Amino acid sequence: MKIAILPLKLIIISSLIFTVLSCKNETTNPKHSTLNESIEKKVDSVLALMQINEKIGQLVQYSGKWNATGPSSTKGDQHKLEKLKKGEVGSMLNITSVASIRETQKIVMEHSRLKIPLIFAYDVIHGYKTIFPIPLGETASWDLDIMKQSASIAAKESAASGLNWTFAPMIDVSRDARWGRVMEGAGEDPYLNAVVGVARIEGFQGDDLSDINTIAACAKHFAGYGFGEAGRDYNTVNVGANELHNTILPPFKAAAEAGAATFMNAFNDIDGIPATGHKILQRDILKGEWNWSGLVVSDWGSIGEMRAHGYAEDKKHAAEIALNAGSDMDMESYAYEAHLETLLNEKKISIHQIDDAVRRVLRLKFELGLFDDPYKYCNEQREKDNVYSKENLAVARDVARKSIVLLKNENSLLPLSKQLKSIAVIGPLADDKDSPLGNWRAKGEYNSAVSLLEGVKNAVGENTKIHYAKGVDLTIPTIAPGANQFLLPLKFNTTDDSGIAKAVEVAKKSDVVLLVIGENAYQTGEGRSQTNIGFLGLQNELLEAVYKVNKNIVIVLMNGRPMDLSRASEIAPTILECWHLGSESGNAIADVVFGDYNPSGKLPVSFPHNVGQEPLYYNQKNTGRPYSNKHVTFSGYRDAPKKALYPFGFGLSYTTFSYDDLQLDKNEIKAGGDIKASVNVTNTGDRAGEEVVQLYIRDLVGSFVRPVKELKGFEKIMLNPGETKTVSFTINEKTLQFYTANNTWEVEPGEFNVWVGGDSTTTLKKSFTVIE
Ligand code: NOJ
Repeated sequence: MKIAILPLKLIIISSLIFTVLSCKNETTNPKHSTLNESIEKKVDSVLALMQINEKIGQLVQYSGKWNATGPSSTKGDQHKLEKLKKGEVGSMLNITSVASIRETQKIVMEHSRLKIPLIFAYDVIHGYKTIFPIPLGETASWDLDIMKQSASIAAKESAASGLNWTFAPMIDVSRDARWGRVMEGAGEDPYLNAVVGVARIEGFQGDDLSDINTIAACAKHFAGYGFGEAGRDYNTVNVGANELHNTILPPFKAAAEAGAATFMNAFNDIDGIPATGHKILQRDILKGEWNWSGLVVSDWGSIGEMRAHGYAEDKKHAAEIALNAGSDMDMESYAYEAHLETLLNEKKISIHQIDDAVRRVLRLKFELGLFDDPYKYCNEQREKDNVYSKENLAVARDVARKSIVLLKNENSLLPLSKQLKSIAVIGPLADDKDSPLGNWRAKGEYNSAVSLLEGVKNAVGENTKIHYAKGVDLTIPTIAPGANQFLLPLKFNTTDDSGIAKAVEVAKKSDVVLLVIGENAYQTGEGRSQTNIGFLGLQNELLEAVYKVNKNIVIVLMNGRPMDLSRASEIAPTILECWHLGSESGNAIADVVFGDYNPSGKLPVSFPHNVGQEPLYYNQKNTGRPYSNKHVTFSGYRDAPKKALYPFGFGLSYTTFSYDDLQLDKNEIKAGGDIKASVNVTNTGDRAGEEVVQLYIRDLVGSFVRPVKELKGFEKIMLNPGETKTVSFTINEKTLQFYTANNTWEVEPGEFNVWVGGDSTTTLKKSFTVIE
């Protein structure tokens, strides 16, 4: 749906800026260019009945920690209760369970004039109660089908608990390991974020939003949130047209095309304009160019925060800016409810803008089927049957093991035999049943994950002795276990090394050590940026002490961001990247450790040698002085390598693969033509295994400088020992185009390189030319 109801002067001004920022010639998505006529008629008929207070009310979203017995007696809740009764609230977030949701919906249904049902939203980021790997970890599977499946299970559990809307997926390209929210997305690459985002949206939404097993998705954070200066959360983003259009926006464009029902804007400013008040992004590009008919929700309090940015004088001004910019729903700023009516009377906003925003809310409510039955998602029996079921946990185990990345495996220390006499399981995270749930664990229950210690015990027989030692505590508890640690500071243990002696003792008497170190659940996530991405607390001391007495160390990493593994990878023969893998973590890791599953994950982010290299990403630009051996001065550091320690796309298997015979079916095409690239991949080892075959390109000369390599396709294949498969990719206009200096998406004629291989450092290359 187009909303071009702007004064002429504004249209002219905006189209000037537009030429810098927008993309002109992309096609619109059929799903969104045609609205459902019957729903639109219904929306119109409801809209016609609404008074202005009711319209504004639909644009208000409150958070509520209410339970089935109703709101607590705090002043804020009383205000919310009154508003609900008057029909002046469109949506609630953070209310969970069928009983609580029904009670809250009832308030509106029993008291309000028009009885417009509420939509219930929640951050279901990587599972509802059955917890899947954190999104960054799950992306390491490069398996779009299982990502879709895990999102669809999360949707099924949420919908069975009465919910209608999740604030996921996060598709912010993120390239700085210091940023705490890298855990929530699909890593550093725009293509990967786009395809993973689409898989997750399809999983959450299914084919039909009114199906009782699906929920609305939310592509977030629009836009630029992952580019905060120096990895600081909420921070300033300074990017130009090239970076915005070629790196940040493509996943969002893909999400809009895939039919994401909602978008969330962002806390950051982009080049001086807060995303929440960014008209070009929200009105001109998203709702204009992309012709997207969904609902934009603000981030939590982000309308009000435009005051702190120094962009709005007061809340009223913030409301004016946000609505004019195209933010439809106000999450917890209380700005719209307080000021939109006055702003309308003062003609600072228009009724067309309000109506357009309300339409977007009503449309979603109709699509979800809430007008047919406001309680359609409220069925206790379904909640009981669907949430945390055995079947869901079995999928969680499968997704988790597919997300593990084998980073190093000298002398094939892994897989371990289940007949080993003794195994030491050591480390602060070894018997941790909570950290594997990661941050943003929705209704995942405190301490409900399978720890690695438990996983190992489940896997081996009685003849194998398991020796456990915690070694050190990672943090000093500052609050009661299970309490909401989200907002509280973490205090790392830097003094108490009294447990190391026992760790050394058990390491000495064991055949092999599984050393489980890394980060706990709350070291990453919102507001969790860190300058140190190494092993905090006394984990290094533990590693060194254990290494002295037993060299057969398998480091089992649990973490939510790329870490500095320089020392660890110097001394440990084997490193297994296990992220925060969710409910079935320990069992999934044991599957890989003992070879019941051959690891197949690949890194969706580059791992640096040290934090000083951040932001670090493979698809960088070449610069004018790229090589240290050709120039006295060059674009790198004197005290660190230029490359990653473990590069994007990298991951080992218990078998090996070779790549040969890369062929292009043509050497030359016209812009708009296709080229087929094919390669033979052979399993050269003695076990069946999966390999992620990756396609990269480089446009050698561009009107904007192009990255040295760009992922443009991948396929995960299974090969038996000795088996060869030919994998083919079609390179077409979509693969080769970019947002050029003409402010449009086009293929520029010239030479292109094509690489295929098992990670982003592949050198198997061919070239072709695009002619005029
Ligand atoms: C703030 C976060 O930035 C956003 O991602 C989340 O969905 C909202 N809070 C709601 O919890």
